[in-house]
Amino acid sequence: MHRVVDLKVLYFGTPVVLIGTRNADGTPNLAPMSSAWWLGDQCMLGMNTGSQTTVNMLRERECVLNLPTSDMVEAVDRLALLTGARELTPHKIEKGYRYEPDKFGVAGLTPLAADLVAAPRVAECPIQLECEVLSSELFGGRATAHTVRVLRSHVDDALVVPGTAHVDPDAWDPLIMKFCEFFGESSRLHPSRLAVAWEIPQPVLDH
Ligand SMILES: Cc1cc2nc3c(=O)[nH]c(=O)nc-3n(C[C@H](O)[C@H](O)[C@H](O)COP(=O)(O)O)c2cc1C
Repeated sequence: MHRVVDLKVLYFGTPVVLIGTRNADGTPNLAPMSSAWWLGDQCMLGMNTGSQTTVNMLRERECVLNLPTSDMVEAVDRLALLTGARELTPHKIEKGYRYEPDKFGVAGLTPLAADLVAAPRVAECPIQLECEVLSSELFGGRATAHTVRVLRSHVDDALVVPGTAHVDPDAWDPLIMKFCEFFGESSRLHPSRLAVAWEIPQPVLDH
């Protein structure tokens, strides 16, 4: 039996990406997102049009896609309701977001210079992808779909299959965002500020 449900959220489960971009004043911005998929050397990113990340990507035409491991969940959650945009959209005010110019500091993460782009890498992320923005199109009302090309990949030695250019899928433990909740190794990891802001029903705990 299937039931017809008007699903509020269609986030079935994708890896979290920390997008590093450069602000107009040269400072770094960092934003968690998960509407990302890869094909060949390109990636498609769905990012809120009002986000500082979109503003920066449209201006600078570059970014770094930093992939966190599941044990970085607390740092990611600290970024959840922050924006690098001084002016908040009504949607963000309603969800409880606030302006934060020092996202790296709040998250306890370390910015690292990239080789080919001015956007920041995140030292703690074992995979960091330097990218150029190929195109940006309005998508689904409030979002912009950015197509980016990966120019250079930095991968922690521990994740590279020796003698190859492959990531070891057994060693790689991505942080997964599923229906606004954080998962790793298929287990729920940490309370999610995003899920609370989106009024996602929470599990009833046994006592
Ligand atoms: C786990 C997680 C996943 C998110 N995924 C997306 C996403 O795919 N697209 C998006 O626009 N925002 C997403 N967000 C919300 C952005 O992080 C939020 O809009 C943030 O304010 C953007 O920061 P910025 O304005 O400094 O760019 C996500 C947040 C979290 C915590």
